[in-house]
Amino acid sequence: ESYTVLLPAAGSGNRMGAGFNKLFLELDEKPILIHTLNVFEKDSACDGMILSVKEEERPIIERMLEQYSITKVKALVEGGAERQQSVAACIRAHQTDGIVLVHDAARPFIRQEVIVSLVDTASKYGAAIAGVLVKDTIKVALDGIVKETVDRSKLWTIQTPQAFRYGILKEASDKAEAEGFLGTDESMIVERIGVDVRMVESTYDNVKMTTKEDLLFGEVLLKHRRQEDFQ
Ligand code: CTP
Ligand code: MG
Repeated sequence: ESYTVLLPAAGSGNRMGAGFNKLFLELDEKPILIHTLNVFEKDSACDGMILSVKEEERPIIERMLEQYSITKVKALVEGGAERQQSVAACIRAHQTDGIVLVHDAARPFIRQEVIVSLVDTASKYGAAIAGVLVKDTIKVALDGIVKETVDRSKLWTIQTPQAFRYGILKEASDKAEAEGFLGTDESMIVERIGVDVRMVESTYDNVKMTTKEDLLFGEVLLKHRRQEDFQ
């Protein structure tokens, strides 16, 4: 099954501390944004990409798309102050009866197998999100006192992509907007319209480039992926 991917790229990268949008930082001499877009450019199941961008960054991004021969971008829409608003702008710009993926432009290491699994699950059930089981022991503490140790076997760290039938995501997004509800991921807004969201197991290397340390990890991952490609 084919899909369209919505990519919020209108952040500021404050935690990265580069002084500009972290998506323009380079890993192996290529912007993080381009690494991410290339995953979808190469995936034959991907019909198109919609990016939300800061208006002032549109020219830079248009130039990059040309320079790196990214051909599947259908639209660059204006992002908002919050990630959810940037995603909402992408949703409004694209109407379909098919599957849409929402994916952070800052996660260049998503694997093809996980995308396939998300698309399959969402087309069967309506909603599917990527995540990995929590590795650490998690406790609840109040005023510095441990209250509880949570059963780790049912705890997931949630990533993107998150995949939905378009109609479900559109309804969830419209309702969240009308009610002023701000979620931290698309799943949250879909959960609250009563749709079951399925977990799809992803990989621990699908990290978001968020702080400086992530770039170091990113460089190592790239090297490792290149070796995998040769095997
Ligand atoms: N994003 C967006 N619009 C916003 C905020 C974030 O499109 N108003 C995008 C980012 O560009 C990124 C993705 O959402 O691709 C995930 O957000 P995050 O990792 O938090 O990136 P930033 O918001 O840029 O970073 P920070 O929170 O450190 O400022
Ligand atoms: Mg942010």
